[in-house]
Amino acid sequence: MLQHAVTGRSGALAIVACDAATDGRRSSDDVVGCITAQLEEIIAEDASVSGRGAPHSAPAGACSLVLLTLVVRADLRKQGVGSTLLAALRRRGRELKASGIVTDVAAANEAANSFFTASGFKKGSSSRGGSDSMIELTLPLGCSN
Ligand SMILES: CC(C)(COP(=O)(O)OP(=O)(O)OC[C@H]1O[C@@H](n2cnc3c(N)ncnc32)[C@H](O)[C@@H]1OP(=O)(O)O)[C@@H](O)C(=O)NCCC(=O)NCCS
Repeated sequence: MLQHAVTGRSGALAIVACDAATDGRRSSDDVVGCITAQLEEIIAEDASVSGRGAPHSAPAGACSLVLLTLVVRADLRKQGVGSTLLAALRRRGRELKASGIVTDVAAANEAANSFFTASGFKKGSSSRGGSDSMIELTLPLGCSN
C-alpha cells in the first residue's frame, strides 16, 4: 500500500491509501481509502478545559488535528486500511507537534464508533438527540502512540 501525504499552507492534510500495483503503475482506480484533517490552534482560553480542539490537557497555543473525513472503499473494509490511514495521521500529527486528534461522528454510525473506540479515541460531549446525535471523540498524541 502506497500513501501520499500532502500538507497545505493552511494546515489542511490529506493521506490517500492506494493498492500497490504489481507492475509499478497506478491509476485512480487504485485508491482504496482516504483521511483528511485540518491542523488548528487550540483557542480555548484555558486549554485544559475539555472541549473542541482540546483533546486533552494541552498548553496554550498548542495545535490539534481536526479529523474531517475518513473513508475506506466499501469492498475493502475490515482489512486494516482505516487503521493504516489513522496510524499515518497520528505519525504526521506528532511531526506537526499536534497535541491530539479530535473528530465528530454520528451516534448512529456504529461501524465508525466501533472503529474509533478500538483505535483509542475517548467519547466526549454529544450534540442534539435522537438519530441526528453527534459524538465528539478525542485521541491524545503522546510519544507512546
Ligand atoms: C469507519 C471505517 C473508516 C473503518 O475502516 P476499516 O478499514 O474497515 O477499519 P479497520 O479494518 O482498520 O478496523 C479496525 C478496527 O475497527 C473496528 N471496526 C471497523 N469496522 C467495524 C465494523 N463495521 N463493525 C465493528 N467494528 C469495526 C474493529 O475493532 C476493527 O478491528 P478488527 O478488524 O480486528 O475487528 C470504514 O468502515 C468506513 O469507511 N466507513 C464509512 C465512512 C465513515 O463512516 N467514516 C467515519 C466517519 S468520518
